Parts: sequence; C-alpha cells; structure tokens
Amino acid sequence: MHRRLGVQTVERYVIQGGKRLSGKVRVSGAKNAILPVMAACVLSGHECVIHEAPRLRDVAVMAEILTNLGVRVRISDEGRTLHLNAEGLNAFEIPTSLMREIRSSIFLMGPLLGRLGRVRCSHPGGCAIGSRDIDLHLMGLSALGARLEEKFGYITADAPSLRGREIYLDLPSVGATENIMMAAVLAEGTTVIRNAAKEPEIVDLQNFLNRMGARVRGAGLDTVRVEGVAKLNPVEHTIIPDRIETATFLVAVAATGGEVVLENVIPEHVEAAVAKLRETKALEVEMGHDRIFARGARRPQAVDLKTLPYPGFPTDLQPQMMALCATAEGTSIITETIFENRFKAADELRRMGADIKVDGRSAVVKGVKALSPATVEAPALREGVALVIAALATEGRTVVDGIQHIDRGYEELEVKLQSLGADIRRPGSE
Ligand code: UD1
Repeated sequence: MHRRLGVQTVERYVIQGGKRLSGKVRVSGAKNAILPVMAACVLSGHECVIHEAPRLRDVAVMAEILTNLGVRVRISDEGRTLHLNAEGLNAFEIPTSLMREIRSSIFLMGPLLGRLGRVRCSHPGGCAIGSRDIDLHLMGLSALGARLEEKFGYITADAPSLRGREIYLDLPSVGATENIMMAAVLAEGTTVIRNAAKEPEIVDLQNFLNRMGARVRGAGLDTVRVEGVAKLNPVEHTIIPDRIETATFLVAVAATGGEVVLENVIPEHVEAAVAKLRETKALEVEMGHDRIFARGARRPQAVDLKTLPYPGFPTDLQPQMMALCATAEGTSIITETIFENRFKAADELRRMGADIKVDGRSAVVKGVKALSPATVEAPALREGVALVIAALATEGRTVVDGIQHIDRGYEELEVKLQSLGADIRRPGSE
C-alpha cells in the first residue's frame, strides 16, 4: 500500500545491485494503448469490455475521470478487465485536479465532443519532459467544426455537429492523431488525417473503434481515414502488449547479464530497440512469435542513437539506454528529437558516477567501468526506470526515491524484477 506523508506519496525502491536477471516474465498491456481506448468508450452508450488492462496509476486516474463524467466503471479479473459503460454520460467537464494528474485526459476532448458536442477542461500545461503543446489537437478539432475558447487556463469546445475534413499535422503527434480519430468517428462525412503518427497504439485504437462499429482505415501508415457513422455497438477488446515495458526489460538484461524470456510481446514492435541493443553487443536476442529470449552477453559497447517517431527509436526508451551507455566501452551520443527536456536522468546518473554532458538536444555519455551506489530521485516515469536499471547493474545498495512516477507506467515492476532474481524492495510494502 502507499505510505503517505501529508498529501505527497513518498515511496522508494531499495536495490541491492549486481545480480543477474534470470527467468520468465509476462509483459502487461500497453499503457499508451489503454488510455485512448478508455477515452474512446465515451463515444458509445454501450458496454465496452477491455481485457489485458495494465494495473497502473494512470489507468486508475482515467477510470476516476470517467466515473466523474457519469461512466459506469466495473473491474473484474483482479483489475485486468475493465467494463466501461457510458450510457449515463452526463458531464462534459474534466475536473482540473484529475486533468493535472494525467496529461492523457486530453484524449477525452475528441470523444466528448463527438458524443455530447461539448467539452471543457483545463489546459494540461507543461510537464517534466517539455512543454508538450496541444496546438495540433485543437487545430484538428477546430477543423472538424468545434468552436474553441481558451480563457483563464480553461479550454471550452462546442460543436453542435462535427463534419469530416482533410487535416494535415505539422508533426506526427501521437495524441493529436488519436484525438482527431476519435472525434471523427461520429462526425458527418470523411476525415482524412495526413502526416499521422504511426505508433502501434494507434493501430490498437483503430481496431477497438472498428470493433465498436466505426470505420477507420490506415492506422500504422501516414494517412488515416475515418468515415463517420451514426451509431456504435457494444465491444470487447484486448489491449496490445506494452512495447516500452518489453524493451525496458531487454535493456535491464543487457545491463545486468543473465537470461530472460519475455512473454506476451509483439516482437515486431520492438525492432528498433532490439537492433540498437544488438549493436551494443551486450545482448543476444532471439525473437519468437509472441516471446523474446534475451541473454546478456558482455559489457556494452558505446552506440549513437537518435529518438524518432515510430518505427524509429522510441523517446520512451531513451533514458533507459542512457543508463546502459553509462557503463559502455567508449563514448555514446544520444540525440533527442521528440521532447526538448528529456535528459533529466543524466543528473541522477551522475550522482552514481556517470560521465554525461548534455548540450541542447544531445547528450554525450562517456562510459565508465562501473557506477557506484547512491541515493537518487526518479524525475519522471522513464527516467525513473532508467535509474532502476542503473541500480540493478551496480554492486551495492542504491535507493531510488520518487517511484510514484514509475507506478504510473509499470505494473508491479518490483514484483516482476524479484521474480527474475533481482534484490529490489519497496520498504513498507512487505
Ligand atoms: C505519446 C505517448 C508518450 C510518448 C510520445 C512520443 C501516450 C499516452 N503517450 O505522448 O509516452 O513519449 O507519444 O512518442 O501515448 N506536440 C506539439 N503539438 C501538439 C502535440 C504534440 O507540438 O499538439 C509536440 C510535443 O510537444 C512533443 C511532440 O510533439 O514535442 C510529440 O508529442 P506527441 O506525439 O503528441 O506525444 P504524446 O501524444 O503527448
């Protein structure tokens, strides 16, 4: 359970590093797939059953937001199946406090506009990894006919009816692509989104929407077409495995050595990560149909990498790779092209003895032989898990504070790592 000090949850991992990982682990459903799918449920007045729900804080917050809007939320299968029914949807305003907790609540704009013709929410603002504008979301919704008003930090959008249009995204934003797709489902006519993002989670959203009776084509390519429909049906859907969790475990095996089998994975979704890990020579990987065999081979060699939209190397794996490169042989150059402030792991890794210099969008990581144990603080989700990887690979006792960030996106990380033989504890939870 969460230990609370005032309003702030103070949680930490205590990690005794230097142990190889070995065994089998099952990857959970994808966080970035389930959040838009949960939002899409408000489009229909019928029951939506979602399997393989990851038990994450972000999912719990999204469920709370939906409950506030009048959606009936039922959970079964120990939290792994969600039953959402928006028949009684009766509100169009997303509470500011919850909006602040997860940026993904912005996904509700499109579906609420589609279903109720109105939505009001606070501006999600910046976050730890950059300013993260929503201009493309708003441009898309306004192109479909929504009248937008931004005042005192609130956004109100009204659209008695939405009409399909051709929309060009200046950059392939994942969230904007999903938001516009969802708004277009009940619009009149056809919406065409050009320069759409191609992430697998967008394909999962398309599959969910189509199962519900929508007509969406092209997800996974750079043009998505949505033909508006008048009504939707009950739906049952299984969320795809989390490719970032999959790749995070692969980096952990590369960093610590050992032999691990990852189950419930889609190998094709982690090809960029696997190619980069093979380049470090630290990992041998065998791809099965729905499993991956990974064996830690040797000390990593330095590699250069650049984050890019899918199918390029994911920004959500960049901090973990930085942790791996910190002990590589040679100097790695990491270039971040998606977010402007995503090198926060560097400051904390330096506390452990890493030699990392950040210059704008690039980080120069001079590999050291080994890191030293320290007390570090997770600045955000992926940065936090990067510190866990560094700690697992470092002899001695490292404390990672601020792990509530990690709980947002990794289901029972310590339980999964313990099952692989890691010595990781969350004091107070035993
Ligand atoms: C999603 C993922 C997140 C991942 C990111 C990039 C979810 C829930 N989250 O976030 O884990 O790191 O994709 O792969 O799926 N931008 C604009 N204007 C906009 C929208 C975005 O300028 O209207 C910019 C952002 O500031 C950022 C870049 O585009 O620099 C990418 O953002 P986007 O693809 O929208 O990421 P998210 O959907 O927020």
